[in-house]
Amino acid sequence: MKRKVLVVDDDLAIVEVLEMRLVAMGYEVTATSDAEKALGSVDDTRFDLALVDLRMAPTDGIALMEAVHARQPRLPVLIMTAHGTIETAVDAVQRGAFDYLTKPFLRDELRAKIGRALASRRWARDRERLLAVGQTLASSGIMARVLDAVAQGAVETTEAERCVVFQQEHGRLVPMASSGSPPPSWPALEAAASEAMDKGVPVTFPGSAAGAIVAAPLVVQRGPAGALVIETAAGIEPTEDDLELLALFSSQAAIAIRNTHDLESLKSGAVAALGRMATQVAHEVKNPLAGLRLYVRHLEQHFSKVDDAAGRELAGKIAVTVDHLTSVVAEITAFGRPPELHRVPTSLHPLLDECLELARARRPTEGVNIVTAYDSKCPEARLDARELKKAFLNLILNALEALEGAGKLTVATAYSAATGSVTVTIEDTGPGMTEETLSRAFDLFFTTKPDGTGLGMSIARSVINLHAGELTVSSRVGEGTRVQARLPLEPISDTPRPSSGA
Ligand SMILES: Nc1ncnc2c1ncn2[C@@H]1O[C@H](COP(=O)(O)OP(=O)(O)OP(=O)(O)O)[C@@H](O)[C@H]1O
Ligand SMILES: [Mg+2]
Repeated sequence: MKRKVLVVDDDLAIVEVLEMRLVAMGYEVTATSDAEKALGSVDDTRFDLALVDLRMAPTDGIALMEAVHARQPRLPVLIMTAHGTIETAVDAVQRGAFDYLTKPFLRDELRAKIGRALASRRWARDRERLLAVGQTLASSGIMARVLDAVAQGAVETTEAERCVVFQQEHGRLVPMASSGSPPPSWPALEAAASEAMDKGVPVTFPGSAAGAIVAAPLVVQRGPAGALVIETAAGIEPTEDDLELLALFSSQAAIAIRNTHDLESLKSGAVAALGRMATQVAHEVKNPLAGLRLYVRHLEQHFSKVDDAAGRELAGKIAVTVDHLTSVVAEITAFGRPPELHRVPTSLHPLLDECLELARARRPTEGVNIVTAYDSKCPEARLDARELKKAFLNLILNALEALEGAGKLTVATAYSAATGSVTVTIEDTGPGMTEETLSRAFDLFFTTKPDGTGLGMSIARSVINLHAGELTVSSRVGEGTRVQARLPLEPISDTPRPSSGA
């Protein structure tokens, strides 16, 4: 979009010359020798800059500037003056002009002063936009969305090539959001982020062949929680304005992170209390259930003896229901147990195949296209196979339940030798989740299914977290859901400790 410049001078020759030059410099110019007309334009158009002659008849330039500022308070005005009236020009600046230009115009001076005035204009406008956007965003509470908006805003206003927001988690820098083109070098951005976090202030790395990198720390209460990093195009150095903008954006990102922390600690407190209550209830229910199971057995045997088929069928149904309840109770009590992993040498791919088999037996899959894409480089590792089976089975069941017998289910692995971890992806082309469902999917007992317990996702996450990994979900309504578990692999050879149990 072209910048809009207004030119007012009662000397028509000057109006023409300036119009020509400014158009050649790429601006959209409104030029007039009539002060009244100029004010009319200011009423209709949002200008980026005005050039106003100091000495005009009947209105003088200062009065015109004041009339312009009454309509557009922050519009930068350059006052044009001939040699010999410098004092008046200085007076003009004191009364609100951005700067003055002396006639005849020197090409470089004209270019430089216009450039500076426009930059200040952009800065003021960006800041307004940013503060407004920032406040609404910071209160929306969905961190991923806020960070995305921050990254995007940073790229748009600083005209950087890319922006990445890093968050520090368990001593590692994790890219949480990004905007712009993918970075040619992640390590360079990460190094910049680390240094900004160490120093606690924004740092700039001037570009050589590549662009320059600027990193601003995200300071949350006790210290830096991450960093916001931008990279400019090759040959472009960030300006002072860019640095200030970046500081503003990083404060917005920090607010988003702090809000989420507050919310999570609140939620995890509530969830923990709920969990304790559920465990107690489960324990109370467990023993009577075992008794019920025994009585039903007796009943079944009794009906068999007296040859009562209908009675036996009924008893069978009760037995199935009791079994289901028992397994739910077992899951809940397992949830309350202190975490402890039994790591054994495990091959992930047969384990995933087994989960698929189990899931197939439990949900209709005739119309589902099940695709596995395993990374053959993925090594055997010390993992808790039993717990992981539970986690992946739950995730696969969720996908199949979402597909309702039609669509595609993909189970894939990708091994990264660099980080020594594998990412397991379980993806479906089902209906996806709404934002509300997505934000609550990991809450204990949250379910949208008539006979769901709302435990699957929480179980899966706690198993993956126990393995020091992380479970993430992305989902779009109408497109599907992708669940990814990143699992650090503990090599078999590095751990002489014999495997315990299982
Ligand atoms: N692949 C998916 N596609 C769409 N929605 C999903 C998917 N996975 C989970 N969800 C949503 O998340 C909610 C919680 O899932 P979770 O596995 O914790 O419980 P559930 O499946 O409802 O019950 P269960 O305890 O039997 O697993 C689901 O009710 C569903 O709304
Ligand atoms: Mg489930």
